[in-house]
Amino acid sequence: MKTMTISKWVGAKARVVEDINSLRPETCNIHLESFGGMFSVGTHSTAERRIYNDLNPKLVALMTALSNNETREPVIRKMFELEYSEECFKKIKERVKKEFDTLSVTDKAAFVWYLALCSYNGMMKEFAGIRKGNEDVIFENSLIKKVEIAENLEGIEVYNKSALDILKEYKDMENCFILNDSPYFGELRTGGKLYANDMMTESEHRKMLEILVDSKAKVVVCGYDNALYNEILCGDKGWNKYILKTVPKSSKVSILGETKDYVDEIIWTNFEVK
Ligand SMILES: C[S@@+](CC[C@H](N)C(=O)[O-])C[C@H]1O[C@@H](n2cnc3c(N)ncnc32)[C@H](O)[C@@H]1O
Repeated sequence: MKTMTISKWVGAKARVVEDINSLRPETCNIHLESFGGMFSVGTHSTAERRIYNDLNPKLVALMTALSNNETREPVIRKMFELEYSEECFKKIKERVKKEFDTLSVTDKAAFVWYLALCSYNGMMKEFAGIRKGNEDVIFENSLIKKVEIAENLEGIEVYNKSALDILKEYKDMENCFILNDSPYFGELRTGGKLYANDMMTESEHRKMLEILVDSKAKVVVCGYDNALYNEILCGDKGWNKYILKTVPKSSKVSILGETKDYVDEIIWTNFEVK
């Protein structure tokens, strides 16, 4: 599979980048991601204006530095200087935890990128070692590909706002395509807090949907199927509902070797998808 994102990120839409980008109507020259994460889809959008937003200041520091050639080049140089090892990972994690605000623009971005690339699901928590081969060489080779992808971020606009605030600003722009990929909601969202900035309560999701429901922009909302989204968006509001992809619910396989349990990821759209 083609590498599509600058890094792994839990919940990233890396496998459906082309599917989602193909939904943007030609009349929309703005692509907005209210919950940007690693911006998998926006990185490859051909919209004239691409807008990235996320509440996580670390991701925002990374995207800001990569959005411009002058700040991106030193970040890339720094990345190639960093060693791929658990020891280095731990040191950088500690510096990010204790000194983030005082780090240079380059170090902020390089350290965040490095931690995401070297950790499970990009969560920056635990070092995920490479099992086979020379780790440094494998890391360097994967970095070469990531750097090429990062060049696509030239010119993006980056914001560090609550999604609800940026949605209010853009929701009535008819020429705006909004990809609203919030942390998922509902029974299928098992386990505790997933992101440093998470959105777990029904009231937060309700507020978000109430902003979007009468939007004049073309909106794609992602999530697992759930009663709250169907109640607010479907019925008399007339939004459409499609299966985006089917994914394993858990990685457990029974002793009889049966296949995993699967779940559909859904998109709700306020326009018809052909
Ligand atoms: C499912 S991920 C987005 C993944 C993204 N589509 C990608 O492909 O990488 C959800 C993101 O929402 C961000 N987030 C959580 N609450 C937020 C809020 N209230 N406003 C803006 N961003 C928020 C998290 O930091 C996380 O990066």
